[in-house]
Amino acid sequence: MALPYAASPYVLSLLLLLSIPAVFLLAPRLLPPKTLPAIPDADETDDLALFRRAVLLSSAPSKDSSAGAGSSSLFGRRPPPKVAFLFLTNSDLVFSPLWEKYFAGHHHLLNLYVHADPNAAAFTAPDTPSFRGHVIRGSKATQRASATLISAARRLLATALLDDPSNHFFALLSQSCIPLHPFPTFYRALVSDNGGPRRRHRSFIEILDNEPTLHDRYYARGDDVMLPEVPYDSFRVGSQFFVLVRRHAVMVVRDRRLWNKFKLPCLTKRKDSCYPEEHYFPTLLDMQDPQGCTKFTLTRVNWTDSVDGHPHTYQPEEVSGELIRDLRKSNATHSYMFARKFAPGCLKPLMEIAESVILRD
Ligand SMILES: *[C@@H]1O[C@H](CO)[C@@H](O)[C@H](O)[C@H]1NC(C)=O
Ligand SMILES: *[C@@H]1O[C@H](CO)[C@@H](O)[C@H](O)[C@H]1NC(C)=O
Repeated sequence: MALPYAASPYVLSLLLLLSIPAVFLLAPRLLPPKTLPAIPDADETDDLALFRRAVLLSSAPSKDSSAGAGSSSLFGRRPPPKVAFLFLTNSDLVFSPLWEKYFAGHHHLLNLYVHADPNAAAFTAPDTPSFRGHVIRGSKATQRASATLISAARRLLATALLDDPSNHFFALLSQSCIPLHPFPTFYRALVSDNGGPRRRHRSFIEILDNEPTLHDRYYARGDDVMLPEVPYDSFRVGSQFFVLVRRHAVMVVRDRRLWNKFKLPCLTKRKDSCYPEEHYFPTLLDMQDPQGCTKFTLTRVNWTDSVDGHPHTYQPEEVSGELIRDLRKSNATHSYMFARKFAPGCLKPLMEIAESVILRD
């Protein structure tokens, strides 16, 4: 029996010809969309080992000293809780002389850790007494618009958890941050807060759920990729700069569930909505311990006239005692303790008002 269609070479050629435009039409849908670079596997492996050690060590039952004011040790011997200052930088810590003044006389209440991008040509480890030797081993490359900034913050948290069991508060800062109050004022604000469940200390981390950017930021990695771990209604935003209590530092370092979503690279075409570090921490903490967070940050930033995702950068001629007093003002329970961003040239005018304004209440 004859097969009228298959038998005809003309029909076959015609079909082939017709299918060419179909391939062009369908191919972009079949190929995965272009993404920004992913986190290198080797970095992930190193981090996992570090985080595991940090969680294991921190899970020892006696180490949870995060209770509030009512729980001082019976023996009175426990060392006072310390603040771990975590500096995340990809350039020189130009304000280290100012921080040096800030830390002076308080070293029994604090530790310092610096994560410096090893690829940053502009970085020289600061050679002041507090900072010398404090760049953490295992610092890795960081880029904007990638989850590498989350990794770097988690690396700092894990390193500080492992380094000193007295580290109880973990303050993340950058090279463009400056202090607005003397250290004892900041320390009192942290230890006197016991508004968390069972009167525990709280983390000072901004958590917002009604920002207009949320929608685009949620879909930056593609449609539906955040599900089921991160439903849209649980997605939060907040400043990258926070102070976490120890139990939250452990929570962040232990997390793998949300990390597996937030580490996904953004789609290239959605690069402008890719700020994973402003979402990972507030989303995780709001899902796991909302009552344990103040929901506001202690680091002031000025978003007026922001350019390309960067806030206003203060220039030397703007620095004055009046500016510092202005930046301290907050609508929250506590005034602001830190501010950003300051241009490197601000060091000189800031040093001039350090004793008279910044380190005086
Ligand atoms: C915020 O920045 C704008 C310029 O972008 C400036 O005019 C304003 O004074 C700044 N606000 C504060 C409180 O420094
Ligand atoms: C405090 O709230 C008022 C009114 O909403 C606002 O105009 C002002 O900018 C806020 N101040 C700060 C420091 O956020």
